[in-house]
Amino acid sequence: MKICLAYASRTGNSELIANQLISKLEMSGNSIDVIKIEPETMPRFFGAGAKSMKQEEMKLKNTEVDIGQYDLFIIGGPVWAGRPSPLFASFLELVKNAEGKKAAYFVTQITPIGKNKEMPGVMKNNLNKKGFDIVGEPLILRMKKGEFLDGEENIDDFVKAIGE
Ligand SMILES: Cc1cc2nc3c(=O)[nH]c(=O)nc-3n(C[C@H](O)[C@H](O)[C@H](O)COP(=O)(O)O)c2cc1C
Repeated sequence: MKICLAYASRTGNSELIANQLISKLEMSGNSIDVIKIEPETMPRFFGAGAKSMKQEEMKLKNTEVDIGQYDLFIIGGPVWAGRPSPLFASFLELVKNAEGKKAAYFVTQITPIGKNKEMPGVMKNNLNKKGFDIVGEPLILRMKKGEFLDGEENIDDFVKAIGE
């Protein structure tokens, strides 16, 4: 499968997961193009939280991405203020030819899995608005400073579910 994986990461946790997914998906024979979602200016903690509560669009260094050639699109990044970082939605604005494409997503967070109640709904809405068909269950990882607190055991199942 040809996969496009886009991720955002402010403090490295989501980047760690992106890298694990890339190597696992490549080992099972997929080819992957990776895009790091980069804001023009990374907000500080309180600015990031405020932007996330409003899901405010953020200016990115990234340019338009045509995903027409891919079989699967994966997007991942942190939860901010109970919602997916607005970097997700800001990046999706740049994605072209998403209609009917398969998509999967992952998030990293500090609170226990299941606690960020608004996150899945916002993610689903963001992806459905673009016409994506979400496959499998999202991968949600509870992490602190690069260490897993919960969810690590779901990484292989996620890779298996989306790789099929
Ligand atoms: C502004 C801000 C708000 C956050 N709010 C939440 C939150 O509501 N719930 C949560 O579980 N984690 C929250 N976190 C923690 C991050 O989701 C967590 O540290 C994540 O793994 C960071 O990913 P990164 O290292 O890829 O940036 C917040 C972090 C920041 C910077």
